Amino acid sequence: MQTATTTAAASEFTEKQFKELDKWLGEYRGKSGAAIRALTKAQEIFGYLPREVQVRVAEGLDKSLSEIFGITTFYSFFTLVPKGKHTICSCQGTACYVRGGKQVLDEIEKILGIKVGETTPDREFSIESIRCMGACALAPVVRIDEDVFRSVAPKKVKDMLSKYSDSIGGA
Ligand code: FES
Repeated sequence: MQTATTTAAASEFTEKQFKELDKWLGEYRGKSGAAIRALTKAQEIFGYLPREVQVRVAEGLDKSLSEIFGITTFYSFFTLVPKGKHTICSCQGTACYVRGGKQVLDEIEKILGIKVGETTPDREFSIESIRCMGACALAPVVRIDEDVFRSVAPKKVKDMLSKYSDSIGGA
């Protein structure tokens, strides 16, 4: 029996979130694919999978923490870091790359001070890269949340980002 603590008092999460997770853990426990299904649900509830959430999943499914941790690090759709309010997806597929997509990504990283896979300390932005968005004719392409920006030039990046946060001044 593990004795890890997942009390809400020391957590950024609420007891209501943990109760909801517990409900799903009870549902999945003993079923096939329980760990992946539970972690997917946990990520929906908490937004990401910090250690305290993984501990709760391990306890709830009666599995070892190392088994749960192995799954979260193996599958790329699980994230161990919090996501920002806005997700920036920079296309690095061939068409976008040869038409300046890398320079656009470099500029995004420079302005925000973070790299792909990271989130700004104020949790405003996360950066991801993607291999093709199916809009190659309009490369380079950047998507921010549901908005798609086409033929993005590095010098336009600051202006583009400023629409999503007052902390970034436009050009
Ligand atoms: S390579 Fe970027 S949209 Fe296709």
